[in-house]
Amino acid sequence: MNNSIEANKVKASMSRGSFATALGAFVATLGSAVGLGNIWKFPYLTGANGGAAFIIIYVISTLLVGLPVMMAEIMLGRKARANAIATMNKLSPSKRQPWWVIGAMGALAAFLIMAFYSEVAGWVVAYIFKSSFGSILSTNPEVTSQAFSTLVVDPIQSLFWQWLVLAVVCVILVRGVSKGIEATTKRLIPLLFVLLLIVDIRSLTLPGAGEGIKFLFSPDFSKITAAAVLTALGLAFFKLSIGMGTMITYGSYWPDGQNIPTSTARVMFSDLLVSILAGLAIFPAVFAFGYEPGAGPSLLFITIPSVFASMPFGNIFMVLFFLLAAVAATGAMISLVEVPVAFLNEQFKMSRSKATVLTTVAIAVFGSSAALSNSLLAGVQLFGMNLFDLYDFVSSNILLPLGGLLIVIFVGWFWGDDKVKAALSNNGSLKNQAIIAAYTVIVKFVTPLLVLVVMLRGLNLLPF
Ligand code: PHE
Repeated sequence: MNNSIEANKVKASMSRGSFATALGAFVATLGSAVGLGNIWKFPYLTGANGGAAFIIIYVISTLLVGLPVMMAEIMLGRKARANAIATMNKLSPSKRQPWWVIGAMGALAAFLIMAFYSEVAGWVVAYIFKSSFGSILSTNPEVTSQAFSTLVVDPIQSLFWQWLVLAVVCVILVRGVSKGIEATTKRLIPLLFVLLLIVDIRSLTLPGAGEGIKFLFSPDFSKITAAAVLTALGLAFFKLSIGMGTMITYGSYWPDGQNIPTSTARVMFSDLLVSILAGLAIFPAVFAFGYEPGAGPSLLFITIPSVFASMPFGNIFMVLFFLLAAVAATGAMISLVEVPVAFLNEQFKMSRSKATVLTTVAIAVFGSSAALSNSLLAGVQLFGMNLFDLYDFVSSNILLPLGGLLIVIFVGWFWGDDKVKAALSNNGSLKNQAIIAAYTVIVKFVTPLLVLVVMLRGLNLLPF
């Protein structure tokens, strides 16, 4: 009798995927963090919010909010070894406390983010092809702007590139946690660094690159508003894939012996490095050729092609640049889609392939509303935003911070300090009491207060 219970347990844990090695877990997690957030969002937000001062606020947000939330998610997932919803359910001290809502909100956020993210990734892939043929390369921003509009207002092209990207994501995920996610990110991350360094060297050796470096590193705090602080915080959540169950899900695949504080800190710093390298690839070139850094979301698709067109062999660098953006986007998208896939797979005993196909098709259908938000659905506006911008705003500035807030409240106040201690020290085998003591204070007080104040103030819900 006992034997058969044990055997069933072993079977259950074997049928669940996991990352094969600690290095694999690190790279896959970094692969989730690194994405269009670094190559598209970070540069355009930095450009639009005045440069260095925004970066400083962003770095503070990652240290005081991003890292603590990421640690919390990874430890919860690893402890429960289940999808995000089941994890919160399992670890909840009482069945009457509905902590699973965090996981459900996360699945919703995954859909919203994937809707616009897969569209941007689609543009990136379209640009790899288009820049190989030179059709979008022009030193005149009006021409590149025209080329970009032609793409986004064409419903067929928009859907085609988006669905192509989703098909690739589906193929990778069907292969499973270790053979799909881990194996893919292990190949992509080194490639990403190599491509990024090549474009960096090009950009930094242009005459006049100094202005761009100054823009990135010498702060002007007069440009910072409450809304900009909320944007920086939202970016920290988005960047580190936190507040929506991605890191809970990935944590559930982490090996038992892995050092959570060290590994998550490494992910955070490596991700920051990628953002800075992306900034160094973009801004020196933007300033060297006299373009505007504050173009907004279209910076990557309108300004950057003009910048590349202004340099010798620009088309080669442009292909490399969009290739690296596509590489980065892949690891992030598989982690987003993995949240609902893991849920369907475990909760409804659905096969992994079936769960993956079902989720990607659902995202393709829902995501079409973002893909068509500049063409057929351009008239649909809510709070002054089209659907694409709305999904981005609601996920980054509301759902992720709210999810992150609830997660730290759970870990700081409901789960139990002894459990946090056991999770962070691997049941006492790591001698890191000082880190744990600091963590306990931060997760109880600093992180939740910061998130709460920045969110309320940024959304204009405070009287001052
Ligand atoms: N971190 C990813 C990026 O910066 C986006 C992402 C958000 C991935 C949320 C998973 C979950 O591109």
